[in-house]
Amino acid sequence: MGDRAGKAGPNIRGGGGIGHGPSGQTTPTRTGTLPLLATALRRRWVSGVAIVTVLDAEGGFRGVSVSSVVIVSIEPPIVAVALSADGSVHRRFELGTAFTVNVLDRSQTFLAERFAGRAPVPDATFTGVPHRVHATGLPVIEDALGWCVAAVTRVIPAGDHVLILGAIGDGAMTDDTDDPLVTYEGRFRSLEAE
Ligand SMILES: Cc1cc2nc3c(=O)[nH]c(=O)nc-3n(C[C@H](O)[C@H](O)[C@H](O)COP(=O)(O)O)c2cc1C
Repeated sequence: MGDRAGKAGPNIRGGGGIGHGPSGQTTPTRTGTLPLLATALRRRWVSGVAIVTVLDAEGGFRGVSVSSVVIVSIEPPIVAVALSADGSVHRRFELGTAFTVNVLDRSQTFLAERFAGRAPVPDATFTGVPHRVHATGLPVIEDALGWCVAAVTRVIPAGDHVLILGAIGDGAMTDDTDDPLVTYEGRFRSLEAE
């Protein structure tokens, strides 16, 4: 994990006009800083990284890197993913549509880059991506730490994102490498062993 020394975080206070200072006093704040606050908070929220896969209109494979995965419910098992409303992939998530969530190991960082459109081959197809095809026709990433297939049960617009809820219908874990891919403050990280 990174060294905190010399890293001044953004000193952002949001709100409709009142914030709480370090010693508890109320201080006036500017409006318009709340999106900055939300961005900073999201960066400060350590999370794993997964590839969500879905089929496109022609039945081809689509993949997108996400950190916004939440296992919302255990019984019944429900997974949620927040997808940017500016992107194109969220349009593939209609009620009943199946998708997969593949939790990445740190050795799969190149996949996170690739499906965020940042890798040398910035496409969302699966050429050269180790995968197998599930009974639903969806690609499951080989050697993901764990994966599931879910059917979309709700699509909830949420500001500049769309919250997708899915009922988990299948999935499996692979051997735990103890080395999941982690993201924090916009960088990929590894867990520090105790
Ligand atoms: C570590 C990491 C996490 C990301 N998490 C999300 C996410 O949770 N939701 C999202 O919409 N985009 C996320 N992105 C960005 C998308 O992967 C990227 O914008 C992708 O190209 C969007 O594809 P689209 O334009 O086809 O929708 C993430 C990217 C990275 C590198």
